[in-house]
Amino acid sequence: MTALLESTTDRAPRVRSVRVTGITWEAEGILSVTLADPSGDPMPAWEPGAHIDMELSQGLTRQYSLCGDPADLRSWTVAVRLAADSRGGSAHVHSTLRPGDILRVQGPRQHFPLEDAPAYVFVAGGIGITPLLPMIEATAADGANVTVHYAYSGQAPAGFVERLAATGVPVHLHPSAEGERLDLAALCAGLGAGTLVYSCGPERMLTELTELLPAEALRIESFSPAPAEPAAPPAGESSACSVQLGADGPVVEVAEDESVLDALERSGADVMWSCREGTCGSCEVVVLSGEIDHRDNILDDTERAEGKCFFPCVSRPISRAVIEL
Ligand code: FES
Repeated sequence: MTALLESTTDRAPRVRSVRVTGITWEAEGILSVTLADPSGDPMPAWEPGAHIDMELSQGLTRQYSLCGDPADLRSWTVAVRLAADSRGGSAHVHSTLRPGDILRVQGPRQHFPLEDAPAYVFVAGGIGITPLLPMIEATAADGANVTVHYAYSGQAPAGFVERLAATGVPVHLHPSAEGERLDLAALCAGLGAGTLVYSCGPERMLTELTELLPAEALRIESFSPAPAEPAAPPAGESSACSVQLGADGPVVEVAEDESVLDALERSGADVMWSCREGTCGSCEVVVLSGEIDHRDNILDDTERAEGKCFFPCVSRPISRAVIEL
């Protein structure tokens, strides 16, 4: 996530087990995965733009946008593109994951919420269409002024294109193989007053949009946000600190040269993580009391001031905090 993202204060990460109930081929290199409660209980509700953490195997957690129907409480759906430079996540989904498998997931989290606007333009690049699909369907169903631009190389998932077409809003497809380049400069130059642009896609697309549009007109979700700088004390001061696991729980001492996440793992605590760079949000813990030196690239200033949570891979208490995992 980037600083441009709006974040909500509704943070209730909860780890649960889910069963893979379906894997569907959407297009070359793209699978959708359907998840449901193993007991058949309803899944937690979510809103367009939300994502989940999926623990694919021990130490391999990835974030995926929910791209199904928010009204369907029987299941969640994510879509996974096989990345050429996969560090294991998408390769695992494509080669190892099978219907019937049980996974641990956390969330849903909302870092990319829909905001009210007189008009919306959705700009998707490749698999970046996934968080935007439910947003487009929701705004179209509300009768909003909506325009969609979907740029992709190779083959677009037919199921996604059908869903876009079913909304009835103008959808402009830009297949690069046919020379249909998306001209972002021309698109931005023609925007009406108050139009909100939502975009998810490759970094070069998001970078160009951030250069073309003022921050108040743009909401983006990045695949690879910049890593955060871990917390460090002023020169001459110690960064050693401690965290207490619950009001009556054990205290974990955190040495100067380790992160709070390292210390929690050393103590045997079960904390889900993925990036260890303060960008993915997987390791979020709840703060019951104590002051935090926030160093992540996720929370905005308001959320930091509220002090309800922090990301122990890069942030740490000033001295001691009571936390809840
Ligand atoms: S592991 Fe990604 S924010 Fe901590």
